[in-house]
Amino acid sequence: MPSAELASAAFRRNSRRVVIGTEPVSSGDGFFDRRRLLGRRVAARLRAAETDRKHAPAGGERNGRRGDPAEREAERAEARIDAGARDIAAAVRTETNPGMLTLEDLATYQVKERPPVCMTYRTYEICGMGPPSSGALTVGQMLGMLLHFDLPAMGPGPEATHLFLEAGKLAFADRGLYMADSDFVEMPEGLLDPVYLAARAALIDPARAMEAASPGEPPWKKARLRVPDGERPNHGTTHFVIVDRYDDMLTATTTIETNFGSRVVVDGFLLNNELTDFAFVPEADGKSVANRVEGGKRPRSSMSPTMVFRDGAPMLLIGSPGGANIIPYIAQALVGILDFGLDPQVAVDSPHVLSRGGPAQVEQGPEAAATIAALDVFGHQAEAANLNSGLQAILIGAELLTGAADKRREGLVMGQ
Ligand code: DON
Repeated sequence: MPSAELASAAFRRNSRRVVIGTEPVSSGDGFFDRRRLLGRRVAARLRAAETDRKHAPAGGERNGRRGDPAEREAERAEARIDAGARDIAAAVRTETNPGMLTLEDLATYQVKERPPVCMTYRTYEICGMGPPSSGALTVGQMLGMLLHFDLPAMGPGPEATHLFLEAGKLAFADRGLYMADSDFVEMPEGLLDPVYLAARAALIDPARAMEAASPGEPPWKKARLRVPDGERPNHGTTHFVIVDRYDDMLTATTTIETNFGSRVVVDGFLLNNELTDFAFVPEADGKSVANRVEGGKRPRSSMSPTMVFRDGAPMLLIGSPGGANIIPYIAQALVGILDFGLDPQVAVDSPHVLSRGGPAQVEQGPEAAATIAALDVFGHQAEAANLNSGLQAILIGAELLTGAADKRREGLVMGQ
């Protein structure tokens, strides 16, 4: 999309309404003025970038050089990357609230390939993104506890929802204490150990909600004292899933962390605000927080791009935006599709219920009051909340691909 269009999609100037994606932001929520100003500032920068690009000299024939076209194209690409990197570092350092990013930081940045994290759930193998994301480990922990209960026989309802909430509390307790970029933090090897998760599952009372969940002691060679960290809500992420005609498959989450990222625009691109995924407090009571800020470390993510395999063959791709709530969104959809046999769209549409350790949250909507009352019987003090997932899924059948897109955000299913 040309940047001018993007700007107008992000901010409709004359309407007294700010539209972020499909989400109108009402003037009554106290956020309006800030977002309106942000929208204007970002829109102006996007327009400026577009003008710069239009007036930029066409590269390639500088110094009258000739030679191999592929080599010339490679040189031009390299020059564009260099110029882009300089622009990024300069923009960050001259912002109103300047950062310390240098050209050297960009030059030494390495994209790291890391192995997927997989676990066995009933007859399925479920694989996802490991550290620095907490996604696959925490989804895996929840499922590793839930497989000790006969959810398929139970079916959807308060009984299963209660178990799901308890598994969420326990898994998030471990996430807060242990999970971070494993290049910097020694993490327990046993976070997905079946024996450990069986012991964690045994802490779940099928009839009664626990007051609070404490982290466990997974098998670990080099124990180190840690202190848990906190959480902040955020917005600004996209997920997409693709199966192509060659049976190549992709489940991908991208994030700039929040709407408009860091609000810094370089050459038409919004820079991310991912550093807020670090814990803001590095230590407490003389103990360090695993996800504290450190030079060169990646912040802890919750992204959970997921692939499910049966008999070695891929059968489901799924993912979502939603900050730390991504984890329970994915776990709930997996239970819906794999255990309850729901059609992926029905699973995606099902009202969310989650706990990340605190009180249970029930998605606002017509069913919220009844769900809150049903959970009260188990001792949950649930509250209604806006649980704005953006799930995207493809169920891969022998003959048929079945897609699902979350109506809570933009997104669609396409096939050809
Ligand atoms: O990596 C993460 O976990 C966050 N940066 C994701 C933020 C997010 O999903 C915001 N979406 N609405």
